[in-house]
Amino acid sequence: MFEVLSNDILAPNVHRMVIRAPRIARVRKPGQFVIVRVEEGGERIPLTIGDADIAKGTITLFIQAVGLTSLKLVGTPVGNHLRDVAGPLGQPTHIRKWGRVVCIGGGLGTAVLYPMARALPAAGNEVTTIIGGRSAPFIILEQELSVFSRQVLVTTEDGSLGRKGFVTDALRELIDDPQRCPQAVIAIGPVPMMRAVAELTRPYGIETIVSLNPIMIDGTGMCGGCRVVVGGETRFACVDGPEFDGHLVDFDLLSNRLAMYREDECRMLEQLPD
Ligand code: FES
Repeated sequence: MFEVLSNDILAPNVHRMVIRAPRIARVRKPGQFVIVRVEEGGERIPLTIGDADIAKGTITLFIQAVGLTSLKLVGTPVGNHLRDVAGPLGQPTHIRKWGRVVCIGGGLGTAVLYPMARALPAAGNEVTTIIGGRSAPFIILEQELSVFSRQVLVTTEDGSLGRKGFVTDALRELIDDPQRCPQAVIAIGPVPMMRAVAELTRPYGIETIVSLNPIMIDGTGMCGGCRVVVGGETRFACVDGPEFDGHLVDFDLLSNRLAMYREDECRMLEQLPD
């Protein structure tokens, strides 16, 4: 059983939860995730490990409450326990020295990006971060990311914070500037955002890494639930990923598979008490 030590609201429907999990805190690496079950027999949900404190034996999870299970999870009060937290799972981010790296986070993807972006400067990279969201309340971790980013650029669709527009607008400006054009881009967020970033960088040959969040069940490569197609080959996001070359991902297939259970999820949500 895993005790919930804190549970804060970071943005609308987005919570930051600190959980006691000393073994996971000791061995996890940036880019890895856990699979959480709130209660016996409950649905398993994959969540990136946003941070860890080895001394305190804790891990930090960022959760977007969009479905029945994630709503139950964010509704777990401090002092209560989660049934299972399995991990760390997945391949750690392959951090190397690229030079100039642009890290792009959209929505909750910004939280997934955080541990990777933090690990980049130690490998000799200069990081520029772009955070995008619908409006100001959806922009998260700007302060935290500014600690190790040369610059943090914010874009909102309604212009309520930063520049009005999309993350790709800010990225295009960087690419057009020879002094700031990146050698690599890491983009994490909604599928349309990751696809748009990959399409923008493709003609320039800029290495582009995306982190995929398909449906996961066991998280160990056994069920096939998380299968994605990358470079024409079937890969399992839980054991081969979650990070892949954005120029090779079949985003159409990913979108279709993510939409598969949407109707079931809506039916389950209707059964929730008000
Ligand atoms: Fe089952 Fe990846 S979640 S194979």
